[in-house]
Parts: sequence; C-alpha cells; structure tokens
Amino acid sequence: MGFIGLGVMGSNLTMNLVDHGYRVACFDLDQNKVESILAKDASERAENTEPRVEGCSSYTELLSKLKAPHLIIISVPAGDPVDHVCNHLIDAGIHADDIVVDTGNSLWTDSVAREEQYKGKFIFFSTAVSGGEVGARFGPSLMPSGNPYAWTRIEPVLKAIAAKVDPETGKPLESHTPGQPVLEGEPCATYIGPVGAGHYVKMVHNGIEYADMQLICETYHVMREALHMAPAEIAEVFRRWNEGKLNSYLMEISAEVLEQMDPETQQPLVDVILDRAGQKGTGLWTAVSALQVGSPAQTITSAVFARSISSLKDERVAASKVLSGPDAPSFSDDEKMSIINKLEQALYCSKICAYAQGFQLMAMAGKEHGWTLEFGEIAKIWRAGCIIRAVFLQSISQAYENNEDLANLLLDPFFAEQITQYQADWRESIAQATLAGVPCPAMMSALSYYDSYRTAVLPANLLQGQRDYFGAHTYQRVDKPAGKKYHIEWSDPARPQTAIKK
Ligand code: 6PG
Repeated sequence: MGFIGLGVMGSNLTMNLVDHGYRVACFDLDQNKVESILAKDASERAENTEPRVEGCSSYTELLSKLKAPHLIIISVPAGDPVDHVCNHLIDAGIHADDIVVDTGNSLWTDSVAREEQYKGKFIFFSTAVSGGEVGARFGPSLMPSGNPYAWTRIEPVLKAIAAKVDPETGKPLESHTPGQPVLEGEPCATYIGPVGAGHYVKMVHNGIEYADMQLICETYHVMREALHMAPAEIAEVFRRWNEGKLNSYLMEISAEVLEQMDPETQQPLVDVILDRAGQKGTGLWTAVSALQVGSPAQTITSAVFARSISSLKDERVAASKVLSGPDAPSFSDDEKMSIINKLEQALYCSKICAYAQGFQLMAMAGKEHGWTLEFGEIAKIWRAGCIIRAVFLQSISQAYENNEDLANLLLDPFFAEQITQYQADWRESIAQATLAGVPCPAMMSALSYYDSYRTAVLPANLLQGQRDYFGAHTYQRVDKPAGKKYHIEWSDPARPQTAIKK
C-alpha cells in the first residue's frame, strides 16, 4: 500500500503496518522524512531481510509502485493539506476504484464533503485514529467510516494494526517492542457507518478527553490549593486511584507528570509549566456540535472554556491582585484524608456524567444524520489504544449491551447505583472547593447535569412565561394536550389567555 505524510503519526503508523507484514511505499513532501523512515526500517528489521518500506520522491512514483486497485493511507494535518494530497493524487493519475484513507483529525463535515467531491476520481474513506504517537506505533483505536466496499478492503489492515484487548477482562494487551506486535485479542477497530460518522465519533472522543483531563486537573487543583499538597504527594494519590475504578491512561500519565522534576531547577516540573492550555480544535468542534444538535454537554463545554480562561494569563494575573476570594482554609490530617477520599468519588461521578454527555450527543447526532451508531462497540474500541482508555469503558460497553436503546448512561442500573452510592461525597467535594475558592467548572457542571437530568420539573416553566411576556412566544400547559400553544395578553389588565391556532 501507499502512505503519504510521514510526520510523527504517519511514520509510526507506517512502522506499525510493516510490523504486521505489509510492504509500504512512502512519500512526504519533506524528503528528509522519507530518508528517516527508510533508516528506521533498516534499524528495526531483522538482519539480512528485504526492506519493508520503499521511499518515493513524487506522487507519480508512489502510484507506480502500488498494485491496482491502489490503497493509499494519508496522515497529514486536518484541513487544506488533505485536499492538497487528494488533488496531487488526481494529477498523478489515481483511478476511480482506488481508495484513499484519511487518518488525520479531520472535521467530520469535511470528510462528508470530500467523499462527494472526489466521487468518480477515487474512493475517499476516512479512519479516525486515537492514541497519540505510541498508539500509532503499537496499536491505536480506529474509527473507520465510509464506502462499505472500501471497508471490506481495509478491514483486515486496520484490524491488524489496531490496539487489542483481552475479551474476558477488557484490559489492553500491550507490546511496545518493534517487530513483536500483539496479534491476539479483540481489535479496537470497528466500522462506524457512512463517511463522517467515524470522525464524528472521534471528535466526541476528544470532547470527552477534554472533560476527563479537566476533571483530573480540578482534583489536582483542590489538593494543591485547598489541601496544600505537594505534586509528588498528589501523584501518590493518583496512583492509588489508578488501582481502582478510576484506572485509566489519563490518570496514569497525570501521576507521572506530577512526579517529574524539572531538570533545570530541580523543582516539580508542573510548577514551572505555564498554566496556559493549548487546543487544536476538536474539543471546540464537539462543543459547537452539542450546541447545534441541542444535546446538553456542559462538562465537555466547560472543559473547553477552562482552556479559554487559562489562556487569559495576563488578565488573570492582573485580576488576582484586585479580586478577592475566601480566606484559605486549614484542615487537620484526618480532615485532609477524608476530603481526598471524597474527591475520588467526585471525580468518578463527574466522569460518568462526561461520558453520559458524550454518548447522548452521539445518539442525538446519529439520529439527525441517519447513522446507526453501535454504542456498545464504540465503548469497546475505546478500551485500548486511545487517550481515554479506561477499565470503566468495559462497564459502558456492558450497559449498551444490556440495553441497546439506553436513553442515557445515567439510567443504566450499574451507573445509577454508583452515583447513588457516591453522590454525597461528590456534593461535599464541590462544596469544599467552592468554600476554598478553588474553581472546578467541569465538576460543577457535571453535578448540575446530573441534577438537571433527574429533575422532573425544571424552572423552564418560568422561562416560558418570561418569553411569552416579552415576545408572545407562547407556552404549552401541563394539563392540556401536548403541542397545543397558549398566550396571555400580559398588557391587558384582564390577562385573557388565548389558545393559538396553527
Ligand atoms: C488522540 C488525541 C489526539 C490529540 C488531539 C487533541 O485521540 O490521539 O485526541 O487526537 O491529542 O490533537 O489535541 P488538543 O488538546 O491540542 O486539542
């Protein structure tokens, strides 16, 4: 097959492919990257064996090295570079039955447009990839979608290179040794649906990733600011949590980050990292989509806003000298231990809500776009390889296997019981953070989501009254047939109510 784009992700995907027995012709606009992948192959393949990678210096050369129908995987930055590659392949003579697989972090609507745009020229297929550079090298989580014929050709390739899980325990099966891939186990790759669906699901994965990361950061912040704990001490707490129900890749790496000392100053590295978060846009896309679809995803959205407010560093520094908060609380050792234990439950309950929001968003978007998304399968392919991998995803997959029509993860008996058991600790943790003046926007929004979702009567009745008052926007009545609309003449002293005729 052909591979275009040999950045970190592209070169690692290529080495993953060759480890699984595929021979790959590679091209990158930067010929140094082509040289590097050839060198990498030379250093990793067994002695006296043929090269597994061939370097190309043009699109035409790449096509000439492949057997028809061509299969070409591309890994370039999302946006214009994808079309740049597609158009060069057309100029180089790609055929209508050739397949081009986009593995970048593309916006899902771009994938939909591309399938249409390149129809008749080649088959555009998209496969979203999660797992960062290590995932790409040794087993990512893959979310393919598009032309079903293309899928039959690509399926064995993607299932070979994907991360694998032990089907019994749901735990990742890992090998990080070049040339020794994990061959057994359930692959973290499943066909998601028509083009766009896979990148949509990956986008929501990233939205959940934003929320998950932010929630961990908030528990760190409470321990740091309210409990005055050192980073290494917090790392120890994270390691303990990682042994239990919060076990996840993000928990594990957070502990490692907190333990890391700065090689220059010998103080904790986290203390010298500037608190201004970057973002490439996938969390924002998820938040925008949630707003457009009308699916409540406030924890994901709060996580995006938390990055926004972090980037206002200069303003925050200035404001910190003007605006006051509560006095710093002090706690005994026993109180501190009790708050830490409660924070673990708070993080867990908030995390359940973030995932519930992500799955609810996918369900609403799926309905809108006519995709039949298999949530049990989606949770399964997130159990390994991807950034949000966690044991917890086994329970999510179980929830959807028990009831494929589950309206919300919170309604699954297991998760409903878990929140019932831990919600007092969740509420207390947020109260403690608030009293100490430590912001925890994602955690608070998760609790509000839970409380809103379980509340039969929300104050939207008053809101509808307000709307009718100033704009004659009408309201429905609880005691009259659904859909029937009413309006009161608020300016008329007699306040007559009229039933609105269609
Ligand atoms: C993954 C990651 C990956 C990446 C994103 C997020 O699943 O492998 O989500 O796609 O980390 O680019 O990046 P930002 O935090 O910069 O938006």
